Amino acid sequence: MSRGTPTPSARPTATERAARPVIWTPSILAADFGHLADQVAAAEAGGADRFQVDIMDGCFVPNISMGPMFVAALRRLTTRPIEAHLMTARPQDWIAPAAAAGANWIIVHAEATPHLNRMIESIAETGARPAVALNPDTPLVALEECLPALGMVLLMTVNPGFGGQRFIPSVLGKIARLRRIVSSRRLACDIEIDGGVEAETIGAAWESGANNFVAGSAVFGHAQGPAAGLAALRHALRRRV
Ligand code: DX5
Repeated sequence: MSRGTPTPSARPTATERAARPVIWTPSILAADFGHLADQVAAAEAGGADRFQVDIMDGCFVPNISMGPMFVAALRRLTTRPIEAHLMTARPQDWIAPAAAAGANWIIVHAEATPHLNRMIESIAETGARPAVALNPDTPLVALEECLPALGMVLLMTVNPGFGGQRFIPSVLGKIARLRRIVSSRRLACDIEIDGGVEAETIGAAWESGANNFVAGSAVFGHAQGPAAGLAALRHALRRRV
C-alpha cells in the first residue's frame, strides 16, 4: 500500500514541475461573508488567480454551505475565474445552475455519480471547464478513462465538508503518481489539491506534483489578512524551489 510521502524516485522532475504554473485558488468557504467584497479584493491584490466556491448539500458531505447563488454573488465581485466545487449527491442537478451563475470551472466528484462521462460532457456543453475530484482514499483508477478529457483533477487532501482540517499526508503519494501519469501521457492537466494547504504542507505537495492550491483558512484566516496569507504560502513554496 503506497501511503505517505512518495519515494524520491516517484517525485516529478524539476522539468515536469516547471511545466505547470503555480495557481493560487483561495476558497471562499473561509472568507468573512460580512465583508466579502473587501476580502475578495484583498485576495486579488495578494495574487489570487482564481476563487473556489464549495457547494455542499449536506448529503454527499456532512455539511451544508452555499449554492449557485453564491457563485453569482462572487461573479459580481471579481473577474478572476471561479471554480464551483460540487460536493453534492446529485451533481447533475447543479451543473447548469453553477454555469449560469458564472462558474468557469465545475468540479464533480467521481464518487458522486455512476455517469462520470455524462457529467463531464454536460459541464463542457455549458461552456465551463470540467474537472473531477477524488476524495483522499479514492484510487486514481477512477480517472483512468476520463483523464484525457480533463484540464484539471482535484485531489482532496482532507475529507470534504469542512475547512480548517489537517492535511492528510498519505495523499502525497497519490499526487506524485498522478503527476507521473499526466507527464507520461503528455496531458495538459493541472493537479489541484484542497484541504489543509498551509505553509507547513504546501512544499511537499508541490514537490509531489500539485500545481493548483486551494486554500481557505491559510488565506482568509491569516491574522494579517488574505494578501499576507497568500504571501506566506508563496514564501513557503519559494523555499522549496
Ligand atoms: C473541504 C473544503 C475545504 C476548503 C478549504 O470540503 O473544500 O477544503 O475548501 O479548507 P482549508 O481551510 O483547509 O484550506
